[in-house]
Amino acid sequence: MKTNPGGNIAPNNVIGRDRLIKRLWETLDNQSALLVAERRIGKTTVIRKMEAEPTENTVIKVRDIEAVSSPTEFVERVTQDVAEHLGKFHKTARQLKSFVNSLSGAELNVNALGFKFPEMAAPHWKELLEKVMADLAEDNNQKVILIWDEMPWMLQKIIKTAGEREAMDLLDTLRGLRQTYANLRMVYTGSIGLHHVITALRDEGYVSSPVNDMRHIEMPPLNMQDAKELALKLIQGEGLKCDLLDDTAECVAGLVDAVPFYIHHVIAKIADQGCVASPENAQKIVKQSIADAQDPWDLEHYRSRLGEYYGNKAELARAVLDQLAQSQPLTREQLREQLKVARQFTNDQLRATIEHDTEEFRKILKLMQRDHYLAQDEDTGAYRFRFDLIRNWWRFDGGYHGE
Ligand SMILES: Nc1ncnc2c1ncn2[C@@H]1O[C@H](COP(=O)(O)OP(=O)(O)OP(=O)(O)O)[C@@H](O)[C@H]1O
Ligand SMILES: [Mg+2]
Repeated sequence: MKTNPGGNIAPNNVIGRDRLIKRLWETLDNQSALLVAERRIGKTTVIRKMEAEPTENTVIKVRDIEAVSSPTEFVERVTQDVAEHLGKFHKTARQLKSFVNSLSGAELNVNALGFKFPEMAAPHWKELLEKVMADLAEDNNQKVILIWDEMPWMLQKIIKTAGEREAMDLLDTLRGLRQTYANLRMVYTGSIGLHHVITALRDEGYVSSPVNDMRHIEMPPLNMQDAKELALKLIQGEGLKCDLLDDTAECVAGLVDAVPFYIHHVIAKIADQGCVASPENAQKIVKQSIADAQDPWDLEHYRSRLGEYYGNKAELARAVLDQLAQSQPLTREQLREQLKVARQFTNDQLRATIEHDTEEFRKILKLMQRDHYLAQDEDTGAYRFRFDLIRNWWRFDGGYHGE
């Protein structure tokens, strides 16, 4: 198998994930789902494999909606999928045409590029969506699964360009449709937390729980065995010279916390440099990637998104990460004590949180867990970085030395 970091992986080149996919199919039998994972863990790869290998009696369509910035645009994409991919083009187009015409007097523009609603029909996106979904669900005795990749990105864009109300309406409309049609399933995937988007909406007065009918499925990296198998197949596929195949594959998997994207990268880089695949060279490449000012792994993202996630508490989140980058895992109380001594907060509120407000501190640590920054030891309750690779980068980037 050749390296292909970030590219589309053919279904038969997808390593591991069988159990996760089986679990997803079982879940979708009864319920819609949220598939949540850190970036680059392999969400898109999993849903594309499901789309390529559907179970019996299922219609499934994956759509990347990261770039969508308005509900109307979203409905146009959905209409396109319903019409083209679910074999109902003519019927859907006919019904929609007359509906759009009755709304606006304008023609529905259907061309090779897809559906484009006339501007006057745009405010009616909700009715359009309900119509399309009714058409799809009622006319189908199969299970219909619509998977929308990167849902939170779309919602953020909608909030920015069309406002909170539109985003709330869209979430509520989709929830309503799930409740109306028993054979309709939706999967929202997202690397940035949907919970941040919903919290932002709540701050604006939103009271619904738009995803509490969906099963939350957290997707981990590969297990070590599959990660090792991936590294091994890539070393072989690239025809690399390698004297210690097993050791090298194991070392690569461990160095990058079994995240498949980085495994592809490390082996690709060894191939680029024309060197031997060995544990030493793998270590060298991981160090180079962490230190590279071009940031080929986009690790800076873990720092830059703190502001967006935690607003005026970002300074506190940074301080927690700085502390855990330099120490052994710490319990909440140990962390608080360390921060009291080590950190002068410029912000009075943050100082007060560290000094007295244990509840507020607990909340931010919980959020940092949800956002994959931290993990908590189940026995001792001590916090540490969720990924060693990110800890190593944070240490390097922060200029910390020694253990
Ligand atoms: N199971 C797998 N087997 C082999 N390679 C994989 C697997 N999963 C992911 N990859 C590799 O990792 C890359 C990133 O995977 P993918 O795009 O699916 O992740 P993602 O979670 O959707 O990322 P993002 O958050 O950036 O959208 C793929 O292009 C591929 O190189
Ligand atoms: Mg993806």
